[in-house]
Formats: sequence, structure tokens, C-alpha cells
Amino acid sequence: MDKQDYIAVFDSGVGGVSVLRELRRLMPGENYYYFGDSANAPYGLKTTEQVRELTLAAAEKLFSKGVKCLVVACNTATAAAIETLRSAYPQRIIVGIEPALKLAADRHPHGTIGIMATDVTLREKKLAQLLERYSQDCNVIRLPSPGVVEMVESGKADSPEAIALMQAELEPYASTLDALVLGCTHYPFMKNAIRAVVGDGVELLDGGEGTAKETQRRLKDADLLNDQQIGTLVVENSSEQQQKIDLTYSLLNQK
Ligand code: DGL
Repeated sequence: MDKQDYIAVFDSGVGGVSVLRELRRLMPGENYYYFGDSANAPYGLKTTEQVRELTLAAAEKLFSKGVKCLVVACNTATAAAIETLRSAYPQRIIVGIEPALKLAADRHPHGTIGIMATDVTLREKKLAQLLERYSQDCNVIRLPSPGVVEMVESGKADSPEAIALMQAELEPYASTLDALVLGCTHYPFMKNAIRAVVGDGVELLDGGEGTAKETQRRLKDADLLNDQQIGTLVVENSSEQQQKIDLTYSLLNQK
């Protein structure tokens, strides 16, 4: 492995761009290879076994491209497959994203924390472990969020439909929440719609920045940080629609 090799960033679709932008902010000199599996999204409604197979297939493909580190920028894929991935590739640096529950509990001890995530993430043991470890003193409300991934994948995250969807899903809880954990990498792109419903008093937290910092730490420990000024970016998507590539860049450049 070489410092010039790619950091591969993988998601079920365009959502992992919310992690890619944090990675690029923190480590602009790195070369990135972003792969979104939009042809198979949403992962969150599949069986754990299906998500695991898709994730392993994506990892195999990415590791053939000169990759020094794989970032699984998908909470669903991390929940279903991170252990299998790590045992299949014990020599590789693999970083997975997790819902920002620790951060939420640290900032709101004894608070009421909503966690929005996909069905797979909500039912897998990884979340139960996080809750047990960090959020015992908090009141945690699980919020399955049907339709949100599809809304982002279709490029409508900032639309009146997005606000209507968030109204239907979040309004009943809005007045009780101290913090809302966005436990799927697609959700940060819905922040405007979420804010429109929950207001400014609820802190929105996601795992993008923490994942970028962890990636930097792992690469530093392995002496694999790239010290060039400006890195490169390759974007690939399993969907044949050009819209997915265009959407990836437009989400990446969004302020
Ligand atoms: N972006 C993924 C996550 O972080 C899931 C989206 C999907 O259901 O495909 O959980």
C-alpha cells in the first residue's frame, strides 16, 4: 500500500457523500474513489444477508483499484457487514460509520434523543450495543424513516415533498426531542426539511465528522497520510443513470 493510493468511500447510493465531504474537508490532499450502489438502493429494506453480500461485493471491487483504506460510509452496511468485512480482509484498514449516539448522550445527558435510521440499522445488534454502552441514561426514541433515502436519491431532498415527508414522520416527536441523531448518511441532506419541522431547538447530529477523524487517525498510525496539496476524486455508481453521477457532484458541492 502507498500514500498515493485511494481512500475508497462506499455507500448504498449518494448518501455517503455526506461523509466524503467531511473527509475532503479534513484531508484535502487525499485521492478519493467514491462508489455508490444506487442500482441496489435502498439497502435499508433488504435482509441483513443481502446487505452483507452487496457490501462484500463492493469491497472486493474497490480493493482491486489500489486502495489504502475503505470507508464504509453507510450505517446500514456497517451494521450488517463490518465484522464480516474485517475478518475477510484482516490486513486492510476498514472504517465504518456509526450513528452518533455517544456524541448525543455526551451533549444531552438524561435528554430525549431521537434516532432516525433504516430498518436494518434499527434492528441490528450494533445499535443495541451502542445504546447499552452510551445512552442508558437517555430516553431514546427510534424513528424508522421510510421514503427518506428514496427522496434523496431522486434529488428532491430540498423540496416541498421532503418537508411534507418530515412533517408526517417527525412532527409528533418534535416538541419532546433534545437531539436528533441522523443515523443514515442520506439524512444530512434533508437537514433543511428536518429543521423546518423540528425547529432550531433540537440538535441534529451525524457521524460524518467522527468517521473522517477516525479515518485520519488510522492512516496516520499506518504512516499512510498523503501530504500532497490537492487530491483527486473518482466517482462511480452502479446505476446507469447519469443523474446519479450528477447528483453526487451536486451534493458534494452543496454549501
Ligand atoms: N445511506 C445508508 C445508511 O447510512 C442507507 C441507505 C439505504 O437504505 O440504502 O444507512
